[in-house]
Amino acid sequence: MKTKLTVVFAFAAVLLMLSSCAQKTPKTYAAKYGFKTGVSVAIGDLYNEDYIKIIKENSSIVVAENCMKWANLRPNKTFWNWTDVDKLVEFAESNKIAVKWHTLFWHNQNPGFISSFKSREQALETMDEHITTIMSRYKGRISEYDVVNEMFNEDGTMRETVWYKSIGPDYIEHALIKARETDPNAKLFLNEYNNEEQGNKKADAMYNFVKDLVDRGIPIDGVGFQLHLATIYPYNEAAVRSNIRRYADLGLQVSFSEVDVRMPVPSSESDRQTQMNTYCSLAKLAKEEPNVTSFITWGFTDKQSWIPSTFPGYGEALLYDKDLKKKPVYEAFVKELAK
Ligand code: XIL
Repeated sequence: MKTKLTVVFAFAAVLLMLSSCAQKTPKTYAAKYGFKTGVSVAIGDLYNEDYIKIIKENSSIVVAENCMKWANLRPNKTFWNWTDVDKLVEFAESNKIAVKWHTLFWHNQNPGFISSFKSREQALETMDEHITTIMSRYKGRISEYDVVNEMFNEDGTMRETVWYKSIGPDYIEHALIKARETDPNAKLFLNEYNNEEQGNKKADAMYNFVKDLVDRGIPIDGVGFQLHLATIYPYNEAAVRSNIRRYADLGLQVSFSEVDVRMPVPSSESDRQTQMNTYCSLAKLAKEEPNVTSFITWGFTDKQSWIPSTFPGYGEALLYDKDLKKKPVYEAFVKELAK
């Protein structure tokens, strides 16, 4: 009898150990606080077993790094390349991971046929066609959309994109209304960079713009803070927190949508410490502020990050290194989430 009991206890202890091991990932800790974690996925990542393992371990939400952008998805008016998007969506569904669409409208990575429009009507028609084609096809399968990406200049004026020039500033509300009408259950976001700190011109302009949308009953669920940060620039946790809270007061969600923290490379000990503090501060904010609903890094390893080619001399911005190993900053990030 005694031996039987010992065996049962030993078995239970092993089960407990296994389950606590299984839970020690960012996504499982984040789930307790009601937010998702995830990464952006380049379509090539899905052909690499090592990458797939990292994506699955860390993601309860994924976003496409490029394949949902106009130039990739719709290089001309009539040809739609659904193959890559379908592959990503199917991968996510089979692993019970949510999918975010990035992005319906942006000023970059656009095909030639939308570089100008003959009239406001033609631009609106093209916009509607894009929204309804995508959102009807993936209705119920894409949980949230970056409806418009990067709509402001640094001084808080609106960016003069082709949509702005052809339609006017109301192109944004037009897109939001059409998107809500097409898939009422999808969460609708406006996404931006350098918009995370209250008191910054762009952040304040975006807040005022979004508040006006809410006041007028235009459908919107949240705002994305891209958070492409750098250790050489100041980071102000209190200003990020108060910005998150003023969106909460409007009833809106905040997504940490494209996080990376780049450093001059090779990195110094002091930059690595600053980077760690920043990731931990963001983890703390995501935990403590109930309207933060996702924490997504832009890529996941220093091997495939967009940083080195876009910001020469900078890198090491992510939680996994070039050899796909977890860095000390990963461990610190998980520890902060686990506190
Ligand atoms: C970047 C991709 O990572 C690159 O592969 C591509 O060449 C350019 O775009 N903000 C955004 C993202 O909203 O779409 C950008 O992604 C990074 C900055």
